[in-house]
Amino acid sequence: MTVFVVSVVALLGFIYYATIELIDRETNNVIDAETKGVVEQYSLFGLRGIAGVIQHRAANLKEPGAIYLLANSNYEPITGNLSAWPADAEDTPLGQTEEGQWVHFRISQGEGDEKISRQMRARIIGLPNGYYALIGRDIGERERFRQVMQAALAWSVVIMAMLAFLGGLLLSRQLLRRVDTIARTSRQIIDGDLTQRVAVRGTGDEFDRLSSNLNEMLDQIERLLVGMRAVTDSVAHDLGAPLTRLKSRIEMTLRGTPDIKTYQATLRSAINETDHIRATFDSLIDIARAEVGAKGFEMKPLNLTELAEDLLELYEPVANDRRLRIESSLAETAPVLANRQTLAQALSNLIDNAIKYTPADGAIHLDVTATPEQVRFTIEDTGPGIPAAEREHVLQRFVRLEKTAETPGTGLGLSLVAAVAKLHRAKLALNDNAPGLRVSLTFQRCLEDE
Ligand SMILES: Nc1ncnc2c1ncn2[C@@H]1O[C@H](COP(=O)(O)OP(=O)(O)O)[C@@H](O)[C@H]1O
Ligand SMILES: [Mg+2]
Repeated sequence: MTVFVVSVVALLGFIYYATIELIDRETNNVIDAETKGVVEQYSLFGLRGIAGVIQHRAANLKEPGAIYLLANSNYEPITGNLSAWPADAEDTPLGQTEEGQWVHFRISQGEGDEKISRQMRARIIGLPNGYYALIGRDIGERERFRQVMQAALAWSVVIMAMLAFLGGLLLSRQLLRRVDTIARTSRQIIDGDLTQRVAVRGTGDEFDRLSSNLNEMLDQIERLLVGMRAVTDSVAHDLGAPLTRLKSRIEMTLRGTPDIKTYQATLRSAINETDHIRATFDSLIDIARAEVGAKGFEMKPLNLTELAEDLLELYEPVANDRRLRIESSLAETAPVLANRQTLAQALSNLIDNAIKYTPADGAIHLDVTATPEQVRFTIEDTGPGIPAAEREHVLQRFVRLEKTAETPGTGLGLSLVAAVAKLHRAKLALNDNAPGLRVSLTFQRCLEDE
């Protein structure tokens, strides 16, 4: 704002001085040219010549403000359009050179009310015989112009300063008001109301962008908090129960008759229980870490087909033990950007479920397909499947369907799969295999070389 005011003032000032300069130079040039003419006349025709010229010029004025005067050594006028030698020009020390003297003076014309004072600028030439010639112009115009310009300059500075001040005031008041809104909302949020959001005006300006970023941040925080609450709730519930069970079983055994066989049985079951608690605990941590995001997980290009082959080798004996067939059709190469360990854990959970919930003599089919854009892992079984209404629900922590209560499990397997899918930006889909369950994970194909 200040820069703007300063530059406008500088520009106006420059115009002012340039114009004054130009007018002055013009006036001087005209006077100079006439002076030269007069001096020439003198050198050609002497005093008579100069008197003739001055008389002629004074009689036929080229410009209304022009003055000509020839005076003797006592400054008594001889000829010209001035009635007397100008009073304040008399004392000007005069040289005998033809450069002469520049003088400024005022002359009064007319009588009474009509009397006007005019400002003159003139050159005096001392002639060799003691005579003086005076040639000048009215510079009242220039003076008036100068005054108007000065006034305009002063006013424009005042008006501009006022405008700048008002504009700044308005702008800062508006900015402060919007900052205040954000501050007030954040205060409410700090005070515990996490549902508050900063108002977005829809103008798309910086404040709007700041506000919507803040809102997105708040959404994210709220999501994380809700997730955290779910984790702590489920930890309290699902780890608390087995720990209490473990403790009371040990206490009961100690209270009973000391018997080595009973002790051994109790310790064995205690080990099983702690294994289960440990597994639940590890899964919970894995899920929480995968859900929080990619930070801390090294993502590398890997061939999903190779990973699937490794897992098949691992699970084939388990499936055969339960009299299940495992078939597979795997694409030659299926590059994805992945964290090998977590992805292997998630795929293991899917295979484990298929084996666990499919009755004997069933079949499990593993499929890896790849298109130029996508890589898809699919696992199908011939078990009971999951009703459509439950397919979202089973992805939550500790959710196990009623009829499977007898089979061992924590209800965390599919939660980890969902979290790992999110970590890999893969799409997880549960479908009906009629009969059985079909689970697929669709990845973006990795374009780098493996
Ligand atoms: N392949 C499957 N066929 C039928 N039901 C399944 C299958 N996979 C998972 N489920 C159901 O979804 C629930 C959640 O699975 P999961 O999260 O892996 O927990 P868990 O296997 O420990 O019970 C299981 O308890 C089961 O009821
Ligand atoms: Mg499972």
